[in-house]
Amino acid sequence: MRKLISSSVALLLVLALSSCSGGAQKPDAGAVGDEAANAGTTAAAPADTRSGAPDTTAVTEELSNDMQENNGVPSINEDFAGGELTAVKRGSAILSIVQDDAAKNGRALFIEGRKESWNGADYKAELFRGNEIEVKGSFRSANKAVRVSVQFNVRGNTTYNMVFAVNTNDSTYTAGSGKYTIPASAERIVVYIESDELKDIYCDEFSVNVCGDYTYYEEAAEALFANTSEYPSLRDTYADLFRIGMAVSPAILSKPQYAELVKAQCSSITAENDMKPEAILDYGTSISDLDKYQEAPAMKFDHLNVELGFARDNGMTVRGHTLVWHSQTPEWLFYKDYDRSGELADRELMLKRMENYIKGMMEWTTANYPGLISAWDVVNEAAADEGGMRKSLWYQTVGEDYIEKAFEYARKYAPEDAKLFYNDYNSYQKKKQEDILTFLRPVAAAGNIDGVGMQSHIGTYMSINEYMLALKKYVEELGVEIHITELDIGADKSDDWEEKQGKYFSRFMKKIIELKNEGVPITSLTLWGISDSLSWKAGDRPLVFRDDLSRKPAFDAMINARAEE
Ligand code: XIL
Repeated sequence: MRKLISSSVALLLVLALSSCSGGAQKPDAGAVGDEAANAGTTAAAPADTRSGAPDTTAVTEELSNDMQENNGVPSINEDFAGGELTAVKRGSAILSIVQDDAAKNGRALFIEGRKESWNGADYKAELFRGNEIEVKGSFRSANKAVRVSVQFNVRGNTTYNMVFAVNTNDSTYTAGSGKYTIPASAERIVVYIESDELKDIYCDEFSVNVCGDYTYYEEAAEALFANTSEYPSLRDTYADLFRIGMAVSPAILSKPQYAELVKAQCSSITAENDMKPEAILDYGTSISDLDKYQEAPAMKFDHLNVELGFARDNGMTVRGHTLVWHSQTPEWLFYKDYDRSGELADRELMLKRMENYIKGMMEWTTANYPGLISAWDVVNEAAADEGGMRKSLWYQTVGEDYIEKAFEYARKYAPEDAKLFYNDYNSYQKKKQEDILTFLRPVAAAGNIDGVGMQSHIGTYMSINEYMLALKKYVEELGVEIHITELDIGADKSDDWEEKQGKYFSRFMKKIIELKNEGVPITSLTLWGISDSLSWKAGDRPLVFRDDLSRKPAFDAMINARAEE
């Protein structure tokens, strides 16, 4: 039984002189295996491209000033006994303080109404800027795990950094803790509670405290950028072998430091999110006139002008990513009348929608940016991790031949200079490769595929030999060319991770170059992002530039791999 005591949204930060115990500390027992290893580093969280991403603009300046005048150390110490709600809802979550017999003082923060995994509770934490903090919390939930993270902006980019996670159960509280150092250049800082699953969360004994001496930063320190203008160019270095690309976003391209770097380093770009069905499909218009849009969902393209215009103006090509995918594709697309409370659309209707969607993409891009899209990822990630084909909504509605159909339509409408690709992750793994080859053989037999994209979200643990054998096998079995489409190489957790990662990049690139020189048709290599904390796998620090755009050993390894051929 829970009882609502208060749902006011007053902000309460308690001044305290206590600080957390110093020294490195692993998360407490109860932390989730893999995620625990990540504690204190940036978690794999979507960047600021998520629709409805939380707004953290409301951090109160007055409060920061008061606290500094009091010469206090900021501290959040919640046992919820007073019944006052100090957390702020994150997304659609509803927060209240409730009676809860399982909680230490009989009351807890209750988080309900969560519609997406990032919905939860925010604690504003601006005053902790530049300090190491220790975060503690106890949770109970029917969700498998609850996560506590820090979110902030640096250089206008939002990053999401996991501090710790705990495996939870519904009846008793499980405690966890972790430490994290917030950069002095961070702004709009919040500590937040979330969970991958959407069930309710109870939180007890939540605290955020400074480790060691407290330093007050009235403003975020200026986040300087390295001077990148003298860097050797990957594009030039590899010009005689293959194109070099990076995944970009309009937000990135709007900042001169990033834009200049991309111009200097790349001959190709991929829109990290903007060409995906969820960014293109227009629900409002589609349902506004079902007679018109039932078979041909409405599409919107204007936002593409930033990335495509940038590529055109700078003599680059674009990888069109992606047409048919189970993810980042709205569910309503698969329903009759686009009504998710009704029935799934039948095969015939879904084939019409698929054809019209592909046609719409090809027509708009060809009309507005002729010759710009060099390759399309026609189908993305159709292989299931557990084997066979992924039982996606495309699979469920159209059936097993949806891949063949997608390529058939793509061939029908693509201009001749655009190559058609199948793209997937872990596609070097033996079993997965067999599955992929099985469903691509008929596509190749029909002459509708030109290439296989190896996403290559890998880590320094991966066997480079296995990868290279698999790469060659696609070429041999399907007669296709290869793009490395989303390369990022996660680092390990050692102290010299940058050097080790650099060495791995070196071995990887040398092998790629060797294969290319042997005649294996590798025609493009794209890095999935620019600098580490902008990566979708920021916690793995998998890219070749640091956040200030200084070059990591991985960048030099890519350049030097050519010199050592
Ligand atoms: C990722 C983007 O990098 C993120 O910003 C987004 O939140 C999720 O998608 N495979 C793909 C890419 O084909 O489109 C994915 O990109 C990464 C995995």
